[in-house]
Amino acid sequence: MERYLVKGPTPLSGRAEVGGAKNATLKIMAASLLIEGEVVLDGIPRITDVYLMAEVLERLGAGVQFLGNRLTIDASGDLTDETPYELVTKMRASIQVLGPLLARLGRARVAMPGGDAIGSRPIDLHLKGFERMGAKFVAEHGYVEGVAERLRGTKVLLDFPSVGATENLLMAAVTAEGTTSIENAAREPEIQDLIAFLNASGARIGGAGTPSLTIEGVPRLEPVRHEVIPDRIEAGTFLIGAVASGGDVTLTGVRPDHLELPLIKLEEAGAEVSQGVDEVTVKMRRRAASIDLVTLPYPGFPTDLQHPMMVLLAQAKGSSILTENVFEARFVFVDELGRMGSQIRVDGHHALIRGVERLSGAPVRAPDIRAGAALVMAGVCAHGDTEIFDAGHIKRGYENLHGKLNGLGAEVELVEAEERSRPAIA
Ligand code: UD1
Repeated sequence: MERYLVKGPTPLSGRAEVGGAKNATLKIMAASLLIEGEVVLDGIPRITDVYLMAEVLERLGAGVQFLGNRLTIDASGDLTDETPYELVTKMRASIQVLGPLLARLGRARVAMPGGDAIGSRPIDLHLKGFERMGAKFVAEHGYVEGVAERLRGTKVLLDFPSVGATENLLMAAVTAEGTTSIENAAREPEIQDLIAFLNASGARIGGAGTPSLTIEGVPRLEPVRHEVIPDRIEAGTFLIGAVASGGDVTLTGVRPDHLELPLIKLEEAGAEVSQGVDEVTVKMRRRAASIDLVTLPYPGFPTDLQHPMMVLLAQAKGSSILTENVFEARFVFVDELGRMGSQIRVDGHHALIRGVERLSGAPVRAPDIRAGAALVMAGVCAHGDTEIFDAGHIKRGYENLHGKLNGLGAEVELVEAEERSRPAIA
């Protein structure tokens, strides 16, 4: 079991480069199952979730090879239809192979998902959409089993613009018979990147970046080379962390247009923000002002940046209200931040954050990927030593987090927790 040790406070300062987007990479990897031939992906982040998805693809019968930040996937051989429990429970995004398997094999057997402890995360919208396209499902013994002799184009109206459901249905629709439309679709940049990948390989998807997608089925997809977009959540985590620490940081390799609302919110809190074509600089010369914040599907404020924002507002002058609209249980993080001296009260999906002058270092536990990275940022801002246990969660989503932070002047160490010898039981 690993943990991070952080000595604070250290204002972050300097330049750092952002890696490829985890959430685009995972879905594009799943979509590669649709292609009989070699797919080359560049800008891949070297993180645990990508390795897990590689394992899922290998277990299904695809060949996967890493070379630095390049990944080659070859799914031209025979594939099996089963994604095992031990992998799906480690990472919910494994269910994104459901659509490609149904499209390619006409059947799929996928364990019910687990993954992050961020509230109940059902897959009913995925399944309802597949059913409208002609698939039939049974759920028993912890697995969902789907069969579809031929997927047919249809209209799917989503109850909620779910990221995962939009992507799964898209992947099922590209080789379906006829035209599929997905209404109330999610618009996240990672979905736009998945669409760019699929269209480059011969799919005919219109409406990228809008809530209304149209997919004209094509007989097959061709091998393709693709570079994934920069990770806007990694970028946002660093920019908010820089502001929270009172620093001065330039991030390179960024898409500022993917971070519009987070940058506006940082300005509202008092940061100086400037943007280039592919870089963003933030400077913070004073204590942050309190602001209110509501998480919503894109282009709303991303739920994945809720935690670092809470770290910033926990030290702001005055009180802020943060409303979480996407995931019900994301506030478990509040208890951990409370151990560092924050004053936050949760009522339903609202958090009232009363800013304190300073956070103090403490032992805490990373409950999931995003909350974990935010606790490391809190450690950078806090006075004294912070130990973040369960660091494995953080490595699922951030490549070399400690190295990048240390390059910006932080003091962060990743250490193996020593095995404690258990007393013998008489
Ligand atoms: C993805 C991202 C995650 C991000 C989230 C929202 C990946 C690997 N993960 O997760 O980092 O926080 O988008 O931007 O890309 N829902 C249902 N039924 C369904 C599907 C979803 O009720 O069938 C609900 C969920 O419980 C949740 C909300 O819809 O409350 C949003 O979920 P969704 O947009 O699907 O998120 P994920 O794709 O799981």
